[in-house]
Amino acid sequence: MKRQILIVDDEKDIRDVLAMALADMGHDVLTAGEGEQALRLFREASPPIVVTDIKMPGMDGIDLLQKLKQENPETEVIMITGHGDLDLAIRSLKCEATDFITKPINIDVLEIALRRVEERIVTRRQLREYTEHLEQLIREKSELQSRLSSLGLMIGSISHGIKGLLTGLDGGIYLVDSGLSKKDPRTLAEGWGAVKLTISRIRKMMLDILYYAKERELKTERVDVARFAGQLATLFGKRIQELHIEFVSEVDPLAGEFEADPTYLQAALANIFDNAVDACLKDDSKMDHRIVFNAHRAADDITFEIIDNGVGMDSETQKKIFTLFFSSKGAEGTGLGLFVTQKIVEQHGGRIKVRSVIGHGSVFRVLIPQRATAEAHHNRNAEHRLPVLL
Ligand SMILES: Nc1ncnc2c1ncn2[C@@H]1O[C@H](COP(=O)(O)OP(=O)(O)OP(=O)(O)O)[C@@H](O)[C@H]1O
Ligand SMILES: [Mg+2]
Repeated sequence: MKRQILIVDDEKDIRDVLAMALADMGHDVLTAGEGEQALRLFREASPPIVVTDIKMPGMDGIDLLQKLKQENPETEVIMITGHGDLDLAIRSLKCEATDFITKPINIDVLEIALRRVEERIVTRRQLREYTEHLEQLIREKSELQSRLSSLGLMIGSISHGIKGLLTGLDGGIYLVDSGLSKKDPRTLAEGWGAVKLTISRIRKMMLDILYYAKERELKTERVDVARFAGQLATLFGKRIQELHIEFVSEVDPLAGEFEADPTYLQAALANIFDNAVDACLKDDSKMDHRIVFNAHRAADDITFEIIDNGVGMDSETQKKIFTLFFSSKGAEGTGLGLFVTQKIVEQHGGRIKVRSVIGHGSVFRVLIPQRATAEAHHNRNAEHRLPVLL
């Protein structure tokens, strides 16, 4: 293998002979007549191999060796010693010289020394690659471990959620049955309402799980804000009112268009609506509950606001709401909702702001940039790749 080699010797003849021999072997040769010059050249070119005379006026070979090793411990240094300089040779080996050859220099001996140096360089490189590979394996293993434990958490949380949903379904079915047998349309309607609500929850949970389970690329298109928000208002407004919660919606008809994946953005906002409904249903402190939905343009963002006057959150809860599997709803929540919402919003290059006062209610504001450049989308998608879990 062709390497760059620095030759250091105060005798010009020796330098020249060595330079010629090494160049003949195919190496790229640098030469220096004394230690200081050698160090300068070494700093400039960082040759992997240095062949230096031990006895030189000024900085001697051993001083040079020590300095070279300080600058780069991996430098391979071959010492040239005179006859009878055995102690110097041994001292240089103690200072980590790779090898020594004696004067008069036999080129075959030098070649053998260089071959050994080459082997050391190759072995060191292999060792480094091996170590890096090992580190990579260890990183992958710990990623796998965290995925597995997150999978375990997810299964636990989902099973818990399904159990809760089944209880809800049982309750609804019981009411439907008894409404039917007693021919009582009110009980029947109540039971049917509970069944429908539970089924919509199951659907939402499935969507969240599917989103979480697989990496999703957004399919963005130009979307008319008023149309998109209007559809959402109709969809959720109906459901909210059925639960005897007042629904108010203000959609700016002139908000224009923005770039979004309407299916995913709708799923993201649906999670916030569902939480708002839960917060109202859980709140016994007020008689009347209300959910307000606003959509408008503010500077370069399209803003969607969902405001409820439900139970609200204390500051501890607020810190955790976007955490995967965080839920305060026991069997009725999986804690996937806002985690998924946040991911979807981030994929759109947007952000979510939350304000909440316990006992009073909460405001969730989702800001989506009106214009997302294709490149920004690409980068964000890469950043927010979700773990493939199922
Ligand atoms: N509008 C809100 N009012 C009060 N608390 C809220 C509101 N939105 C979210 N939270 C709190 O944040 C937690 C996490 O919400 P998230 O939607 O992620 O999970 P979840 O609703 O519990 O379960 P699911 O996965 O079924 O949505 C909730 O359990 C609740 O404590
Ligand atoms: Mg939720």
